[in-house]
Amino acid sequence: MAAELAGKLPLRSEHDIVMARQQVRAMCQSLKFSLVDQTKMVTAASELARNTLIHGGGGDMRWNVLEDGARRGLQLHFEDEGPGIANMQLAMSDGWTSGTGMGLGLPGSKRLVNDFDIESAPGKGTRVSITKWK
Ligand SMILES: Nc1ncnc2c1ncn2[C@@H]1O[C@H](COP(=O)(O)OP(=O)(O)O)[C@@H](O)[C@H]1O
Ligand SMILES: [Mg+2]
Repeated sequence: MAAELAGKLPLRSEHDIVMARQQVRAMCQSLKFSLVDQTKMVTAASELARNTLIHGGGGDMRWNVLEDGARRGLQLHFEDEGPGIANMQLAMSDGWTSGTGMGLGLPGSKRLVNDFDIESAPGKGTRVSITKWK
């Protein structure tokens, strides 16, 4: 899989989630992340991609490579135009789910990366951005 510096994939099916995972893995490898960091980033991406599909009704994953002096990082954005999140504090709590999940996707992902940013409002969709630095 090509490790382009920036790109976008749809998240509209389980197969799309597999493709997104593969893309993130390829990007992490090309940035020479450690195996542990690769797995952390792929795990976070997987959770957020599934949220986009299941809770957000589908959307996209965008990625880009960041450079800060000699440091490089991988930034991922998960975007949908679904129902949004009414209570962010609740959604970010360990074990809270509005459905049948484990309720660990959002808080767990936050712990696995260096930067985590979420923007959401009822009726306005959801956008989650994460960054992992090498
Ligand atoms: N993209 C999204 N659109 C709407 N709601 C979301 C989205 N992502 C997360 N949520 C809400 O936040 C809750 C917590 O998400 P998460 O921690 O991943 O747990 P789970 O997916 O297991 O329910 C979800 O149950 C859902 O209500
Ligand atoms: Mg989830």
